Amino acid sequence: MGAGVLTRVGGTLRCGGRCLAELAGDHDTPLYVYDGGRVLERLATLRAAFAPLTPLVAYSVKANPNLALLGLVADAGAGADIVSGGELYRALRAGVQPQRIVFAGVGKTREEMRLGIEAGIKSFHVESEQEMDALGEVARSGSAAGAAMGVRVNPDVSSPTHEYTRTGHAAAKFGVPPDHAVELYRRASAHPFLRPVGINVHLGSQIRTPEPFLHALDVVLDVADRVRRDVGVRLEYVDLGGGFGIADGEAGELDVAALGREVAARLDGCGLELLLEPGRFLVGDAGVLLTRVLYVKRAGGKTFVVTDAGMTELIRPSHYGGVHAVSLVRDEGTGALERVDVVGPVCEQGDFLAQDRLLPLPAPGALLCVHQAGAYGFAMASNYNSRRRPAEVLVRDGDARVVRRRESWEDLVRGEVVDA
Ligand code: LLP
Repeated sequence: MGAGVLTRVGGTLRCGGRCLAELAGDHDTPLYVYDGGRVLERLATLRAAFAPLTPLVAYSVKANPNLALLGLVADAGAGADIVSGGELYRALRAGVQPQRIVFAGVGKTREEMRLGIEAGIKSFHVESEQEMDALGEVARSGSAAGAAMGVRVNPDVSSPTHEYTRTGHAAAKFGVPPDHAVELYRRASAHPFLRPVGINVHLGSQIRTPEPFLHALDVVLDVADRVRRDVGVRLEYVDLGGGFGIADGEAGELDVAALGREVAARLDGCGLELLLEPGRFLVGDAGVLLTRVLYVKRAGGKTFVVTDAGMTELIRPSHYGGVHAVSLVRDEGTGALERVDVVGPVCEQGDFLAQDRLLPLPAPGALLCVHQAGAYGFAMASNYNSRRRPAEVLVRDGDARVVRRRESWEDLVRGEVVDA
């Protein structure tokens, strides 16, 4: 399930029209390959789903912060949802317009707030009273006219996703409850350097049904209404967050068209601009991880396919129970289907890319393609076990370009000293 953007031509997988075996040969493995056309197609799909509302799509940079991908979506008019000074730096470097940037996160530092204000971003989404006070102080001390902001509301909606990617229930560290949000708007409206302009909610990630989003939207629309009536402030936008689920090895994708219709019906006549913060929906199935089989090993009644990529390149299977489809790049299995674990070279028993998967048993040297790896793949890659992070290639109009080179040994020790 969820082959996404790939096609098989003459028995070999292609991405964006380019042969994956050739790309692996040219750039070595492990290797990330992204299909730029697919990213733009997904952006168009999302916009079409919410068409009557002409939403501002603020790409969630954390999903894949590569500058080339950021530049691609920025050129297509997207903004950015950022959570750190580093993501602000990247977004601006890639040409995202500051007026399309929103800044989320429970732990923004004063330094990050200052940078955001100076850049002239659209809005900060505050998540606590203390954070809002800090933003007010930073805004007061700056030369700009103040800080535009919204409150991230915690709607107490539980979404059916992994517990680590669920953020909209009351006991999550994110957002503030509706009543408290109204109070924050009251305080913000009385502050000379804070400008309450929007309202935000984000429920979590990989949510495959519209209901949690609609429930959350009802909660924030009610808060916006109370803010208008009780505080006298008319908000300009509602930001529904991200989390739009994609098809993977486990299940199908969220029906964004159905969600879009329902959201449009609720926002009709409200005079609120709609913001969306998709990460995975735009880049998830546009990316694959290519890895080569090193060895096949049988032990304890199991068959392990040992690959040159593991949790250091893609942590989702071991950290979130993420199920990524895995297939052979070339139709070249040595025999019948066999139940295997695809495991990496990292010295951790929890290091795997797939478990209990039926695959034509590959021979050493065979190439595997791990699907839906465009989001939270490279972004969460690490140097654990002193492994060099892989190269990233972007395919665009048939052209394959290295948009980040593989790290060198020197990169691994940059900034370190042998004897202090
Ligand atoms: N907006 C906010 C405020 C967020 O925190 C996130 C993701 C997004 C938008 C984008 O969510 P998306 O559309 O990509 O689902 N590493 C995990 C996912 C963590 C998501 C964190 N926040 C994973 O690999 O499943």
